[in-house]
Amino acid sequence: MKFLSDVKTTVIDPPKSPPEAAPAKAFYLKTFGCQMNVYDSERMMEALAAQGYGETDNVEAADLVILNTCNIREKAAEKVYSDLGRIRDIKTARQKAGKDTVITVAGCVAQAEGAEIVRRQPAVDLVVGPQSYHRLGDLIARTGETKKSIIETEFSENEKFEALPKVRKRAAPSAFLTVQEGCDKFCTFCVVPYTRGQEFSRPVAQVVAEAQRLVEAGAREVTLLGQNVNAYHGAGASEETVSLAGLVRDLAKIDGLARIRYMTSHPRDMDDDLIAAHADVAALMPYLHLPVQSGSDVMLAAMNRKHTADEYIKLIARVRAARPDIALSSDFIVGFPGETEADFEATMALVREVVFAQSFSFKYSSRPGTPAAALDLQVPEDVKTDRLLRLQALLEDQQVAFNAASVGQKLDVLFERTGREPGTLVGRTPYLQLIHADGDAGLVGQFVPVTVTAYRQMSLTGRIA
Ligand code: 5AD
Ligand code: SF4
Repeated sequence: MKFLSDVKTTVIDPPKSPPEAAPAKAFYLKTFGCQMNVYDSERMMEALAAQGYGETDNVEAADLVILNTCNIREKAAEKVYSDLGRIRDIKTARQKAGKDTVITVAGCVAQAEGAEIVRRQPAVDLVVGPQSYHRLGDLIARTGETKKSIIETEFSENEKFEALPKVRKRAAPSAFLTVQEGCDKFCTFCVVPYTRGQEFSRPVAQVVAEAQRLVEAGAREVTLLGQNVNAYHGAGASEETVSLAGLVRDLAKIDGLARIRYMTSHPRDMDDDLIAAHADVAALMPYLHLPVQSGSDVMLAAMNRKHTADEYIKLIARVRAARPDIALSSDFIVGFPGETEADFEATMALVREVVFAQSFSFKYSSRPGTPAAALDLQVPEDVKTDRLLRLQALLEDQQVAFNAASVGQKLDVLFERTGREPGTLVGRTPYLQLIHADGDAGLVGQFVPVTVTAYRQMSLTGRIA
């Protein structure tokens, strides 16, 4: 794992025959992990398009292959290496046909592992961390010139956002907008403070301008992204510091921006003003993703979460007092080092008390360089599996109950795309539930009242009212 103090640009000699310098024109991009990677991938695609590249979904036809990677759990990181093996074979086959392929690894594995990636897979030409995407074009050109692998994992915060292209020709009805990156919380299981660096907030004017461009390009809903988004503290017009609540209030003034969401938040940064915004900003949607991770105070302390189970429950009560119908969502980790059956039961008790509309739960995965990786008492895999299944059964019941309660309601749906069957549409309710309905493709991008007629665990079906 690379830490903030030792990141730098390095050029290293690869044990391979380098590609010939030829203009690369088609790119293939695969995104792993969180919504921030989705946002970053969109921005990379715009930057590449501005340089004359066209996208292809056929990796064998690509002159440039980019994997935008995720390092949060071991499985996600290891998947990258198995993909790289296959891409190396394609590169070799293309080389025999006289075609070059530039293989690029971007994202959090790039940041965390740097040169190690080239050591494990020498066919990789470029390793680029999330803070350097604005330099992607230059770096790709340099792989041709230097005939060596390039490792670029510098931290430069705002420079990236300033330098990425500002054109947004077409935006989906629901768009992502990164407003904050990095994290200072240092939960003991988490790589994010090392891969995405210190907390950084984009200035308010920059975010508002990007939201305006998104709306002009067709977006009706914007999800504000940040690893710890409710810690947002961006510079305002007079250099004052603006909180996430202030930013939401500014964005709500944009004509045509009907829905605002944000994720992911930390319980400690859920301030009164943000809770109040859920009561009085109509555009702020009634959905809150507020990870608790565990219901055991012993585990929460070992995770360095900086709050107790009771504090979380009281916080949720305040959020519900402001917005009684809010849909709550959380992340959970089972099998954190030292977790006993009683600790796990405390998580189950918290879930029964809070009641979530949707949740994400994971087995603890030891990440190199994080404090928890060095802890004794790692929980055996079969115990982790058993606890995860029990927790997921409970969370599934709650999600099903939440969806079942929507049947018969008339909800405002933003249709995001056409469905697989002709004449069908797919959209989202205010509570972020996926909903299918019959309807004309012309309704994509519009808000339509829909009566919910049926439910499943992961989605609803409705009739346009
Ligand atoms: N092991 C398992 N889950 C993890 N998460 C973060 N790091 C780990 C890890 N080492 C989960 C947390 C976090 C979500 C994005 O991923 O629940 O909220
Ligand atoms: Fe990771 Fe979230 Fe904790 Fe930050 S608050 S260290 S991103 S889990």
